Amino acid sequence: MTTVLGIETSCDETAAAVVRSVEGSAGGEILSNTVYSQIADHAAFGGVVPEIAARAHVEGLDAIVARSLADADVTLDDIDAVAVTAGPGLIGGLIVGMMTAKAICTARSLPLVAINHLEGHALTPRLTDGMPFPYLLLLVSGGHTQILLVRGLGDYERWGTTIDDALGEAFDKTAKLLGLPYPGGPAVEREARNGDATRFPLPRPMKGEERLDFSFSGLKSAVRRQASELAPLTAQDVHDLCASFQAAVTDTLRDRMLRALRRYRGEVSDHPAALVVAGGVAANQAIRAMLEDVCKDEKTRLYAPPQSLCSDNAAMIAWAGIEHLETGTATGMDVAPRSRWPL
Ligand code: KG4
Ligand code: ZN
Repeated sequence: MTTVLGIETSCDETAAAVVRSVEGSAGGEILSNTVYSQIADHAAFGGVVPEIAARAHVEGLDAIVARSLADADVTLDDIDAVAVTAGPGLIGGLIVGMMTAKAICTARSLPLVAINHLEGHALTPRLTDGMPFPYLLLLVSGGHTQILLVRGLGDYERWGTTIDDALGEAFDKTAKLLGLPYPGGPAVEREARNGDATRFPLPRPMKGEERLDFSFSGLKSAVRRQASELAPLTAQDVHDLCASFQAAVTDTLRDRMLRALRRYRGEVSDHPAALVVAGGVAANQAIRAMLEDVCKDEKTRLYAPPQSLCSDNAAMIAWAGIEHLETGTATGMDVAPRSRWPL
């Protein structure tokens, strides 16, 4: 049994968690999963401000770690190792997390495991459900939009990525230009419920292309053009623009994921791939319903971790730490944070 303290500070969540491996079970046990979301600190700016994020991590992380240990009903004496996000992400936040993790490890003579944030997302279904390798992962968040083939621990193939904006970023920017609050994803989804998705024929960037990449900045610009033609916007215009935007996104994702699932059957296995969706955008009900549909057509299953484990959290980092420790790989104390770190 291994008990790991996880720390995550790569973006605008200050997070700590305690996770334990369970003897004889493929998954893990989450003893605590403590997250302080800085959304309110950034809302006035319509997006994450790196300097504000770094300062908030400095001010909040010690208390979040203490709360997470208390929530788990453990002390540092019960912890076998510390796992920390070393990248990719905003460098100021990464430095805060890594300095804190190294300080704890030095003071308590504990091993340190430096984790790639994307690997945390990729391994989450193993924490919650003991999901066997391989599987396909669609990661859609404020910072990332990727299709990954998860073959094994440390064995990831990136099949697709965005060539410009991340999907969550596209939701956030679209919301901002329509005068909706940050974070934009939930606001756009809410507005879209009362909208006509067929009113504006927006582009479906990359749809039909063989390579599995994404592009969202042209779609956002199309919304901007449409909005300025209509200005001043009525409430119904905003509903319809949001619905049309969300439909274009959903349509594009459907095309990309169908292709990915078919490629998997051609190249990886005769059996269809289990499809895992993660990241903040996975909360979107229209996107969820479309993915369920695609999986049904392809005779496979969609797995979506609970939302608290889909958006940024430290439980996924602690779990990735456990998986690495169990294969005998801790990290040296000289490891440095990396703002860019492809899986
Ligand atoms: O994974 P996440 O919580 O954190 C970061 O990427 O830092 O993702 C946040 C992103 C934001 O861009 C937010 O607008 C988007 O996820 N998001 C959504 C929804 N809820 C959150 N996008 C679309 N529909 C939603 N319901
Ligand atoms: Zn993330």
